Parts: sequence; structure tokens; C-alpha cells
Amino acid sequence: MPASLFDLSDEIAVVIGGTGGLGGAMAHALADAGARVAVVGRSAERGSQRVAAIESQGGKAMFQSADALSPDSLAAARDRITTEWGTPTVLVNAAGGNHPQATLPPGADFCDLPLDAWRHVFDLNLVGGVLLPCQVFGKVMLSAGRGSIVNIASMSGMIPLSRVVAYSAAKAAVINLTQFLAREWATRGIRVNAISPGFFPAEQNRALLYNEDGSLSERGSQIIGHTPMARFGKPEELGGAIVWLASPAASSFVTGQNIVVDGGFSSVTI
Ligand SMILES: NC(=O)c1ccc[n+]([C@@H]2O[C@H](COP(=O)([O-])OP(=O)(O)OC[C@H]3O[C@@H](n4cnc5c(N)ncnc54)[C@H](O)[C@@H]3O)[C@@H](O)[C@H]2O)c1
Repeated sequence: MPASLFDLSDEIAVVIGGTGGLGGAMAHALADAGARVAVVGRSAERGSQRVAAIESQGGKAMFQSADALSPDSLAAARDRITTEWGTPTVLVNAAGGNHPQATLPPGADFCDLPLDAWRHVFDLNLVGGVLLPCQVFGKVMLSAGRGSIVNIASMSGMIPLSRVVAYSAAKAAVINLTQFLAREWATRGIRVNAISPGFFPAEQNRALLYNEDGSLSERGSQIIGHTPMARFGKPEELGGAIVWLASPAASSFVTGQNIVVDGGFSSVTI
């Protein structure tokens, strides 16, 4: 029995999209639990800020630049992390988000949804968000015979939300691909799970949730009205779920699951 079910000091975690709001908070939580954390993303400035924040609290972190949509760039980041620290044991896929043109304006017709925007959202959330990182990092984790992969899906991947149709459909595919990989790799030492956040204000959804003056948008109010906890989530509230799923001691028999962190949004109809 390990000293603590939630001690991650043997883990080397990679957080793709750790430059963003939710990925950054999960990187912090993993580092707080003792993991060495590689923050991976496109912005060196934001990545370095995240690393500095983790280090200022006594955690161990590094930034590696990569574009999740480029297999070569992901492989280069993987190789640099492996050289410096060893084979990653935890992969968090938190690069993703919506595209303004893939959100139907109020009253607009689905038939007019631009194909380019649809493809952009599927590429980002499914291809760069899950497929490529799982292939690139999965290869070395499979060779090592141990690891935990956590894909960040969305509550809207289970219940399609109005207007954000491409995003909801892409996240549904993320949940399905998570289940596929869980079965595929279950006997090879790799667990694959998803976390589905509800509504957490972040860069990619701020314009949908708030008006320019900072007040709640009509949609933001509707969402809070439908959330039993009557508020949005705070990024650090994903910390418990990510540390649990990353921990080989705490979640050793958990794979193929979709853990919903949404203040109860998806549990009620009215
Ligand atoms: N915020 C929410 O309410 C919410 C709800 C459900 C799911 N999610 C999901 O959580 C994840 C994180 O989103 P967030 O809300 O923190 O948004 P965010 O925009 O703050 O973070 C996303 C990060 O991904 C990075 N990224 C985008 N494309 C990339 C690429 N090609 N290569 C590398 N990095 C790339 C961005 O630069 C950004 O740092 C996403 O998958 C999002 O869909 C968010």
C-alpha cells in the first residue's frame, strides 16, 4: 500500500493545453500531489508563466512547446520530456475548445453551419485534442507498460447543447474514443478515462457566458438557472478528479469512464 492513495511523486505528467485555464489548473493539482509536470502548448509565454507559478509553490514543472495538431511537433516534445525526466506516465489532453463560426447564431439554421468551422472544431477537439497525443504518447507509455490518460471531454458531449453543435458532437466522439482506447489498452497497463466539465469560464467560452460589460449573457444566466449549484465551476474544482484518475493507486481498476464535474447540470431536466 503506498503512503497515500493520492501521492503522485512517482509520476511524470504531461498536460497538453496546460497553457489554458482548465489544463493549467489540472497541471497545478498534479504538481501539488507530487508529480513532475510538463506543460505542453503553443504559447511559450503562458507556458512559462504556468511553470513559474507551479515552481513558486514548490512543484516541479517544465514547459515544452508543441502544436497538438502536428504529430512531429508532439513527438519532439515527447522525446525532450523523456530525455529529461523519463517516460511520461500520465497524459492529460486538455487542448480544445470551440470556434465562433461553429456556434449557430440565435435563430440560425443548422443547414447554414459553415463546413470549415465544423472541421476546425473536430480537428482541434478530436484529432489534436485526443487522437494524435494518444498515438504519440501512447506509443512510449505502451512500451513502458503503465500509464493513465485523461481526455477532457465536456458535459455537452453527453447532452447536446443548443447552438454549439460541432463542439458537442466532437466531444461526444471524444467520450467514445476514450472508451475504445480503454478497451484497446486495458491489458497493456494503460488506463484511459475522460473528465467532462460543465461550465467553467475560460478564454474560449467567455464571449458566450458574459456580455462585454462583464454581466452574465442571456445564455450564461440560463446555464446558471439550470445548474443545481447555481454557479459556474472554478478550474481548481477539477483537481480532485484529475489527481484521482492520474493515481495508479487510487484508480487502479477504473478505465473507460467519463467523470462529470458540472455542479449537477446534467443530472436534472428542468
Ligand atoms: N471551460 C469550460 O467550461 C469547459 C467545459 C467543458 C470542456 N472544456 C474543455 O476543457 C479543455 C480546456 O479548455 P479551457 O476552457 O481551459 O480553454 P482554454 O482556451 O483556456 O485552454 C485551451 C488551451 O489549449 C491550447 N490549444 C489550443 N489549440 C492547441 C493546439 N493546436 N496545440 C496545443 N495547444 C492548443 C490553447 O492555446 C489553450 O491554452 C478543452 O478541451 C475544452 O473543450 C472546457
